[in-house]
Order: sequence, then structure tokens, then C-alpha cells
Amino acid sequence: MQTLAIVGAQWGDEGKGKITDLLGAKCSLVVRYQGGNNAGHTIIVGDKKIVLHLIPSGILHKNTLSLVGHGVVFDPKAFIEELNKVRGSGVEVTPNNLKVSQNCTVITSYNKLLDGAREGHGTKIGTTGRGIGPAYEDKVGRRAIKLKDLLDKNILMAKLQENLKEKEILFTHLFKVKFPTVEEEAQNLFELGKLVAPFLTDTFGIIDSALQAGKKILYEGAQGILLDVDYGTYPYVTSSNTSTGGIYTGAGLPGGHIGEVLSITKAYTPRVGEGRFPTEHMGDVGEKIRKIGSEFGATTGRPRRCGWLDLPLLKYSIKVGNITSLALTKLDILSGFESLQICTGYEVDGKIIDCSYPGLDLSKVKPIFKDLKPFNDDFSGGKLSSELMSYIELIESELKIPVGILAFGPEREQIVFRKDYF
Ligand code: IMP
Repeated sequence: MQTLAIVGAQWGDEGKGKITDLLGAKCSLVVRYQGGNNAGHTIIVGDKKIVLHLIPSGILHKNTLSLVGHGVVFDPKAFIEELNKVRGSGVEVTPNNLKVSQNCTVITSYNKLLDGAREGHGTKIGTTGRGIGPAYEDKVGRRAIKLKDLLDKNILMAKLQENLKEKEILFTHLFKVKFPTVEEEAQNLFELGKLVAPFLTDTFGIIDSALQAGKKILYEGAQGILLDVDYGTYPYVTSSNTSTGGIYTGAGLPGGHIGEVLSITKAYTPRVGEGRFPTEHMGDVGEKIRKIGSEFGATTGRPRRCGWLDLPLLKYSIKVGNITSLALTKLDILSGFESLQICTGYEVDGKIIDCSYPGLDLSKVKPIFKDLKPFNDDFSGGKLSSELMSYIELIESELKIPVGILAFGPEREQIVFRKDYF
């Protein structure tokens, strides 16, 4: 196998950073293809905790090149802050091991202001406030600032002028927020551009050459399939294609196909932000999962909503993402629970369905739960209890794909591979 995609099968926060870090060690390239610094991928090594937002999770490995593809929306200010922080924790990040597409769309301060202002008007999405949606709007509206534009102040000024035209009316008359002048914004971005410039290149060409040379590539998805702008729980989604489809448009896979799509899934379901969540547990169980599982956003610190595993949604994600195997993370959190349930179907308009579908109104579904025997594993000796195995086997038999990885803690070693990757 030459190419592996890692995607989230839920609403993000599945633990993709840890698995990407582990499997990235075996690859020549680790490539981000969508999203931006709304992501928060956590890697724990010994007593060090590294949270990556824009930098791919392959960065800890000396022989792995990390790439940020053109489909990523890129906040140069956030990038420089992250770079300093990651370097401060002893990780070497240089233009030799990190390369960024010069065609990434820039997240400007206008985008961040709009994101914040819109959340106070109309439908509240519960965004991360990082300017993600407005930056993608600029991209498809053909008025985006690209990273390469930061290198020429005249081009930058002209593009910002064009870019601000309509937003100025919104800022002044609708949202009534203060915004930087074009000169101020251009100066800021131009200075940041000088710091980002050494990392900029044509990442598509690097991927093309690597594939032709038979090198191994890992594509690192951010967020989860249920947040995909086309396949997710619209409008409560992010603004990119978080599913496997985003790889082709956001980074490139010239002449190739994805060897394996590994989906990361928590042993339960978390969600942050607005939107209907059928298995959300509003009582003691949800609270217990959040507390024991430390379910607070890695980017915003917001408490995550929590509930039991939802198989109809996972079946849907598997179809959408062409997922071939699953990594089940945070199994340790459920150990010791007095009761355990998994949602195996929905009742919709008097009918029972076992798989979600595009556009299904999740506010109209009634989840059907199966009770399982609780497990009480300490995961120290490598042997898993029969109760835990029943939990895993139910998931495999319902989803009809193997659970290739079990993760039961944040450390690199707290993992069992039941399948070979690479
Ligand atoms: P945005 O991506 O900041 O526009 O936020 C849109 C929705 O996606 C909100 O519900 C966010 O909470 C959610 N979201 C965005 N990024 C992540 C992530 O990395 N993990 C989990 N949820 C996310």
C-alpha cells in the first residue's frame, strides 16, 4: 500500500493526531488537505503535549516531510504562533521538513471578524471563530488572497481592496464592527508573509513526484465526515470537504488511488458546536464521559457534548468516505461504566432504519439502543476482557469493516494494532 487516508468518522475530535503521528513515522509525506486552524490535533510524547492546528501531525518524525496542501485555509498569524510554540517544545520545524502550498487561501482579519459577527446574527453554528467559513467563501467567490500574494505588496493591496469592497458595507451597516484599513491589513500580512515565505512551494509537484517514486503518503483529514460541507449535518458543518473527496481537490493524488481509508472513531460520540445529535446524553452519562474523557475542545476549550456510539451515522460515514477500517479510540474512558449502550438504529416516521442518509433530519429520529455488558479493563497486560471484545465485535459485525486499531490512552504506547498499515 502506498497511500493511506486518515479521516474522522464522527463530528471531529476523534483522536486523529495520535494515530497520524504513529503511522506518519512510516511515511515519506504527511499531507493536510482541508480545514485550517479550527483543527486541534494532540500528540502526547512522555510529559510533552503538542497541539497542532495547521502543522501536519507527521512533524515529529525526522524522515517525514509534512505538507500543507492548497485546500487548507491558512492564517499566517496563527501559523507563526504555532510554529514558535512547537519549536519551543523542542520539535524541529524548518522549511526542510515542512512545506506549505503557495496557493493556500489566506484567512485575513476580515474573515475572522465576519465569522464572529455572523454568529451573533441569524443561525448560530457554534464555529471555532477562526474565520474558516468566510475564507472559503472568498475562495469560491474568486476574491481570495492566496499565500503567494503576501510576497508582493502591490498585488496584496490591490487584492485586499477588491476583497474588502462588499465586506466594508457589512461591517459598517449590518454588523457595526471596527475593521482594519486596507493599508493596515496589507502591512500586517506583508510582514507575516516574509516569515511564511521560506515554507512556500508547489506542494502538488512534491506529491506527484513522491507518488511516481513509489513513496508512501499519509493524507491527514481534519474534523470529521459529519462536518463535511456537502455530506455532513448541514448547516451545522464546517466549510470544507472533510471526507476523502477533499484529498483530490485539496492536495492532489495524481494518477493514484487511496490504498486504505482508516477512519478514527471514539468509542462513544462527542460533538462541539450546534446541531442535532441523536445519541447525546443530557444526564449523568454525558457528564461522566465529558469529565473522565476530558472532553473539552483542543482549539477553543469549549465543553463537548457527549453520548453513546451511533452506528447508523458511522455506517453513513463509511459509505461517504469509502472507509476500509476503523481505529477505535478512548476505550479506556468507558471502562468501569455501570451500563453501556450502542445505538444500532433509528425510528423515523414509524419505520426502523439502520443507516443514515444525506439530508436525513436528525431532529426527527428516535435512536434505538442495544444494552451491552459493561467492561472493566485496565489495559495493562495486553489481554482484553470478553465483555470488551463483545463491544468491539458488535461494532465490526454491524459496520462490516475491521476495527484495525484499539487506543486506550493518550500515549503512543497505549495502542493495539490488530491489522498492519504499511
Ligand atoms: P468552523 O469550522 O470554525 O466554521 O466551525 C463549524 C462547525 O465545525 C462548528 O460546529 C465547530 O464546532 C465544528 N468544528 C470545526 N473544527 C472542528 C474540530 O476540529 N473538531 C470538532 N469540531 C470542529
